[in-house]
Amino acid sequence: MTESAVEDQTTRLPDQSASPTLSVRDLVVRFEIEKNWVTAVGGVSFDVFPGEVLGIVGESGSGKSVTAMSALRLIPQPPGEIAGGQVLYRESSDAEPIDVLQLPYDELRRVRGNEIAMIFQEPMTALNPVFTVGMQVREAVLVHEKVDRAEANRRAAEMLTRVGIPDAEKRLSDYPHQFSGGMRQRVMIAMALVCQPKILVADEPTTALDVTTQAQILELMAEMQGRDESIVLITHDLAVVAERCDRVVVMYGGKVQEVGTARDLFHHPKHPYTKGLLASLPAVGAKKGERLHAIPGNVPSITQLPVGCKFCTRCEEVMDRCHTEEPPLHVLDDGREVRCHLFEDEAK
Ligand SMILES: Nc1ncnc2c1ncn2[C@@H]1O[C@H](COP(=O)(O)OP(=O)(O)OP(=O)(O)O)[C@@H](O)[C@H]1O
Ligand SMILES: [Mg+2]
Repeated sequence: MTESAVEDQTTRLPDQSASPTLSVRDLVVRFEIEKNWVTAVGGVSFDVFPGEVLGIVGESGSGKSVTAMSALRLIPQPPGEIAGGQVLYRESSDAEPIDVLQLPYDELRRVRGNEIAMIFQEPMTALNPVFTVGMQVREAVLVHEKVDRAEANRRAAEMLTRVGIPDAEKRLSDYPHQFSGGMRQRVMIAMALVCQPKILVADEPTTALDVTTQAQILELMAEMQGRDESIVLITHDLAVVAERCDRVVVMYGGKVQEVGTARDLFHHPKHPYTKGLLASLPAVGAKKGERLHAIPGNVPSITQLPVGCKFCTRCEEVMDRCHTEEPPLHVLDDGREVRCHLFEDEAK
């Protein structure tokens, strides 16, 4: 699967000389668990460039959703707290960046949806079960466009038609539970796209869906993406990453462990964790019964993360210092970023 898909990436790599649309800088997010503050995201930084699809991957609990939710200040408070960092958003390439984390609430409302929109894994968490789908999409239109109700209804039906809901006009009066899972996900996408966001953050948008619907939804997101609009795609599905993403951020233990183009990362993973993730994928031409490599051990809980490298308890190339000294995110000559002591000498 991945080989040919990754080859195709060369034609659509983002312009990294452009200013990033979004820069997450040293983001720290904590939760109070049984009276102790526990760090779930421990200083995460990455950029999203105009027009790119950035994948975020990593095992369950690595901090992907917390990072994404923080970018829109959607962390439940309590028990959560954004304890540090910046989320810098640029409306246009020559605009001064604004820090979403510092915005007054009314401006934050404008950025949410209008500039940065989010699609959640489980659409029922974002759709209100007691209101009709039509009303919810119409409200999204009314928040973002100065139109009357009749026009908002017309726009709602038009958006639902665009995302492939048959008989959209009639279905405006249906409630979310009257839609299938795939259709609810389409409704969420319609709501996100009504606002024509500069950045669409999609957190596992297709995990709960069958393969055909999954492909349709991903296609739909790609179609809606203009030249300057970016998508942040959080997924466990590395095949989807290989097919859809330009660059990839690999997370583990609430930290970025590796960043690179999808092509580089899939062909030459550097971090032992990335290598482990990829080795757990079935290879093209693998023989039936051939065993896949699993990363040894389990993901530690965030209350028990090691003080040194977060991956040291499961790493097959671990050294003594890894247990006590956390490596910085080394930037290598080819632009790859790797948080691993093994690459200290290669770092710029
Ligand atoms: N509301 C919360 N209260 C306490 N801890 C939380 C809360 N939300 C997230 N966490 C913790 O933060 C850590 C990161 O969670 P996050 O949801 O970001 O993981 P993830 O990488 O998105 O995982 P998955 O792949 O399963 O979606 C986890 O240890 C999780 O238990
Ligand atoms: Mg998640």
